[in-house]
Amino acid sequence: MKISIITMFPEMFGSFLQGPVLRRAVRKGALEIEVVDLKDYAPGSFRHIDDSPFGGGRGMVMRCQPVIDSLRAVAPAAGGKSRIVALTPAGSVFCQKKAREFAQISHLVLVCGHYEGMDERIYRFVDEELSIGDYVLTGGEPAAMVVADAVVRLLPDVLREGSADEESFENGLLEYPQYTQPADYDGMKVPDVLLSGNHALIRRWRRKESLRRTLERRPELLAKAELSEEDEEILRELKMGENLKGGIFPPR
Ligand SMILES: C[S@@+](CC[C@H](N)C(=O)[O-])C[C@H]1O[C@@H](n2cnc3c(N)ncnc32)[C@H](O)[C@@H]1O
Repeated sequence: MKISIITMFPEMFGSFLQGPVLRRAVRKGALEIEVVDLKDYAPGSFRHIDDSPFGGGRGMVMRCQPVIDSLRAVAPAAGGKSRIVALTPAGSVFCQKKAREFAQISHLVLVCGHYEGMDERIYRFVDEELSIGDYVLTGGEPAAMVVADAVVRLLPDVLREGSADEESFENGLLEYPQYTQPADYDGMKVPDVLLSGNHALIRRWRRKESLRRTLERRPELLAKAELSEEDEEILRELKMGENLKGGIFPPR
C-alpha cells in the first residue's frame, strides 16, 4: 500500500515516520509512504498557500491551486486507484471499520487542512471527508497521523499474526483488561484466573470482562455487537441483561 500525505508542514511528520510500526511496514515492503510539501506546488517567491475568505471574516483559507495541483500530481501515480481523503471536522467520524477498509486499498491520499480550512471547491477532487472526532485541531496533520497509524498496523505482516484481532472495536467490543509482571504490585494483585494456566477459564474471563467494560463504558457498542449464546449467558450472569433497557437479551 502507498500512503501520500499532503501538508503545509512536512516537518511535523519527522518522528512519526520513524515510529517502529511504520518503519517495519516499510522494511517489509507492505508500505510506501510519502509526505508531499504543498509549498512545492505554490508558485512565486512567497509560495503562499492561503488567502483571506470571500465575504470577510477572520482567518485564512487554503487556496484551490496548490492543493488541486498537488492532488493531480500525486493521485495518478497509483494508476487512478487512489482514494483521496480530506481531514476535516465536518467529515464522517473515523473508526476501526474504516481503518480496515483503507488497509485494503492500494493508494490512500490524506489531505491536511490548516487555518480556517480549505476552499470548498477543493472538495470536488476529494473522495471522502473524514474527522477523527468532535473537536477542532489546528491542522489536519495529527489527524493524518491517526488515520495512517490505524491503517498501517492492519497491513499484512506488520503486527504479529492475530495480535490486532482481539483489540478494542475489532469484534464490536472493548478489549478486556491486561496485566504483566509482577503478579502482586504493592498489594494490587492480578486476577487469580490469569495465573491459573487454564486457557478455557482465561478465555471466558476475558470475554466477560470485555462485555462488562463495553456495557459500562460504551453500551451503544454492545447493542450493535454480534453476540453468541455464551455472551448472552455471561451478560445474564453479570445481571446486566436487565440493564439493557428494552430487553435486548431477555432471559430465556
Ligand atoms: C482549525 S481547523 C478548521 C476548522 C474549520 N474552520 C471548521 O470550523 O470546521 C484546520 C484544519 O484542521 C484539521 N482538523 C481540525 N479538526 C479536525 C478533526 N476533528 N478531524 C480531522 N481534521 C481536523 C482540518 O484539516 C482543518 O482544515
